[in-house]
Amino acid sequence: MKIAFFSTQSYDREYFDACNKKHEITYFETALNTDTALLAKGCSAICVFVNDKVTPSVLAVLSENGIKLIALRCAGFNNVDLKTAAELGIKVVRVPAYSPHAVAEHAVAMILTLNRKTHKAYNRVREGNFSLERLTGFDLYGKTVGVIGTGQIGGVFCKIMQGFGCNIVAFDKYPNETLKQTGVVYDTLDNVLMHADIVSLHCPLTTETKHLIRKETLALMKKGAMLINTGRGALVDTKSVIHALKTGNLGYLGIDVYEQEENVFFRNLSESIIQDEVLLRLLSFPNVLITSHQGFFTDEALTQIAKTTFENIEAFENHVSLVNEVKA
Ligand code: NAI
Repeated sequence: MKIAFFSTQSYDREYFDACNKKHEITYFETALNTDTALLAKGCSAICVFVNDKVTPSVLAVLSENGIKLIALRCAGFNNVDLKTAAELGIKVVRVPAYSPHAVAEHAVAMILTLNRKTHKAYNRVREGNFSLERLTGFDLYGKTVGVIGTGQIGGVFCKIMQGFGCNIVAFDKYPNETLKQTGVVYDTLDNVLMHADIVSLHCPLTTETKHLIRKETLALMKKGAMLINTGRGALVDTKSVIHALKTGNLGYLGIDVYEQEENVFFRNLSESIIQDEVLLRLLSFPNVLITSHQGFFTDEALTQIAKTTFENIEAFENHVSLVNEVKA
């Protein structure tokens, strides 16, 4: 099948080429939008990533140019207008689980870095500064960790944090009975936010979860608590979070995702003047850690993403049931 890949980086080409047995792939660095959608002309499928906006107008151009399948090489599908895709007869498939460990472990890495300040210690020691001033952390042992969304990633995250000796309180619309048996206690969202020393977000972005963390919910959190978001940027109202950081009510923030990330993430802007004032304000806090959507970025996850994406494409090609189809 002829497939147009959008928003590709060198590592996409490396992992997909290694796994590709028969497809004719064209890699585009550009993101998918109404102007670039035409690049897919002549292909039957496109492959997109988290920040490709598959809007109704983009879908119209894709449909006019013969696209029948959209293969997401990610788990989240909040960036695709599924209703319009269905109306146009375009199927949408995704990679629901490639390595929940990759993202859960990254969330833990963010907690450890923010807490024990290893990023600062690394720089200090390299410059001959062996002082411990202001590097104080806290024991994770015995702390309460609030987990919002206990699916694949949230579930693995709960187990890792239990390994540190943390108490886990969780909120999910569909509590997981197996996790309950391991000691995870489910409660309301408000109670989880009120009792947790660390809150980690692992639910999908939906109309219901947009700005789940905002002024009102931040006000419920313990003073000095840590917030980790490896889910999707818009789970958090960034301006409210900045206010909570300024007042000291929020003690730490670790984000791997950001509301306006499509304008900056995955690119080297080190020689550019960054225009995003909100991001720049976030970067100015000593207790904020930002990574550029790299939670998924392990060798195992990239291999599995390529493998499952081709399986999805081949199932479509062979008219076999699409186990990873997403529908409105
Ligand atoms: P999943 O579908 O296995 O789990 C999501 C959980 O959230 C489910 O248990 C579901 O019941 C729960 N949920 C849904 N709506 C909710 C609500 N309103 N309130 C509370 N809980 C709710 O998904 P998985 O694989 O664990 O991924 C979670 C999210 O992580 C994805 O949707 C994606 O946005 C994000 N992600 C981030 C990556 C990164 O690189 N930073 C990579 C992969 C996923």
